[in-house]
Amino acid sequence: MARTPLIAGNWKMNLDHLQAVAFVQKLHWTLKDAGHEDGSVEVAVFPPFTDIRTVQTLIDADKIPFALGAQDLSTKDAGAYTGEISGAFLKKLDCGYVIIGHSERRDYHGETDEIVAAKVQAALKHGLVPVICVGETLEQREESGPTAVSVAQLTVALEGVPADAEFVVAYEPVWAIGTGQVASPEQAQEVCAALRAVIADTLGADAAERTRVLYGGSVKSGNIASFMREPDVDGALVGGASLVAEEFAAIIRYQKHVGV
Ligand code: 13P
Repeated sequence: MARTPLIAGNWKMNLDHLQAVAFVQKLHWTLKDAGHEDGSVEVAVFPPFTDIRTVQTLIDADKIPFALGAQDLSTKDAGAYTGEISGAFLKKLDCGYVIIGHSERRDYHGETDEIVAAKVQAALKHGLVPVICVGETLEQREESGPTAVSVAQLTVALEGVPADAEFVVAYEPVWAIGTGQVASPEQAQEVCAALRAVIADTLGADAAERTRVLYGGSVKSGNIASFMREPDVDGALVGGASLVAEEFAAIIRYQKHVGV
C-alpha cells in the first residue's frame, strides 16, 4: 500500500491572521500555477491558534486543497482550564491534524511522555489525527544511540491507541531543529525505520504499513528530495522553510525539480 507523502508546515509562533491570508493565497497560487495541486502530495499547514478560523474560511471559500492543523491541544474537553484549547474546538474549525509533543513543548512547557500520551488520546477522541513528535538531543544521541529516545517516546505515546487509529509520527532530532544542522538521509531513515518497527510491535503490521513517518529538522528545498528517497520517510514537518511561500512550494514540488 502506497502512503501518500505529507508535507506539513509548522508555523510555530509566526504569521498573524492577516499575514496568514497572504501566505496561504500565495502558496496556493504558486502550486496551482506549477500544476501541483494534483493530490500526489498532501499539504498541511499548522498556524497559530489565532489564525485557524481565518485560514479555515479562506481554504473553504477558495477550495484550497490544504489540510489544516493545530500546534497543540488540551488533554481536557472543556472547563476551568485558562488558556487551554479543546480538541472539540479544533474539530469544529475543520482541523484534521494536531501536532503533539513537539520538542519545543516538551522543553519549554514541561510536557512529559505521559502528557503527550494523554494528548494523543484527546486528539483521537475528538476525531483529530495526532502528529506525534519524537526526537533526541545531541547529548542523548551520544549517550544512548540514535534510536533509543525516539523509540521510548513513541512507545509511551502509543499506549492505549487502537490498532485502527490514524496518526502520523514525526522524527525531529532536537539538534537539527532550527539549527541548519540537518540530519543525513541515512540518519533519518535509521530512526524512521525504528519508529515504524515500534508501530508494528504495538499495533501490528497493517498499522505500520499505512502510517506516515515524517522527518523534521532544517528541511529545505535543497535537501527534501534526499529524504524522500528513503523508504521509511513519508514526508516532512517543516519549520522555518514553511514560512516562505516559494520555498515551501518548492519543498512540496520535490518530485518535479529533482525527479525522485
Ligand atoms: P525547522 O525546519 O525550522 O528546523 O523546524 C523543524 C520543526 O521543528 C518542525 O516542527
